[in-house]
Amino acid sequence: MHSIVIFASGAGTNAAAIIAYFKQNGKAKVSLIVSNKADAGVLQIAEREEIPFLIINKQTLNETMLIEQLRDVKPSLIVLAGFMWKVPAAMVHAFPGKIINIHPALLPGYGGKGMYGHHVHNAVVSAKEKESGITIHYVNEVYDDGNIILQARCPVHENDSADVLANRIHKLEHFYYPRAIEFLLDA
Ligand code: GAR
Repeated sequence: MHSIVIFASGAGTNAAAIIAYFKQNGKAKVSLIVSNKADAGVLQIAEREEIPFLIINKQTLNETMLIEQLRDVKPSLIVLAGFMWKVPAAMVHAFPGKIINIHPALLPGYGGKGMYGHHVHNAVVSAKEKESGITIHYVNEVYDDGNIILQARCPVHENDSADVLANRIHKLEHFYYPRAIEFLLDA
């Protein structure tokens, strides 16, 4: 069975969707959850699902040790699901082609440093875009820059608030992220 590691900083609704999907189809299991926030909702999910978790912080991070801990669970994929740090370059080099991210917009639009979560949806709504969506991509050393694996689109309606758009985007994410992961595991 494939082993997946999830990195997340927030509520963890994507993490929950991925865990539920693979619990059902049995092709993979989430063997570790890593968060940079001790109070992240994703850690409650880890506890509820009895998945081991690791809390990291910038001041004390030992990259070599983190890489060792990741290697210990032999991940087929390392999945960033609302992880708000730039992944350390050493980690990118240690797991070539195995780290993927989801971004809540159609890259290369609305990406880069500072463009995460609500900042993205606010910017899209303010620009009066007619369309937004999600991008699942490989992670390299530059924010939101790696090769694109999948994009899915949705409309932005004239009176949408950032919250309404965020909900629509989350639905796309919850549907496509587990399936994109499954596709990569099978490929
Ligand atoms: C998701 O919408 C994800 O695309 C976004 O954070 C949200 C996390 O939600 N990621 C980024 O903005 C990365 N640049 P979740 O914690 O409920 O899964």
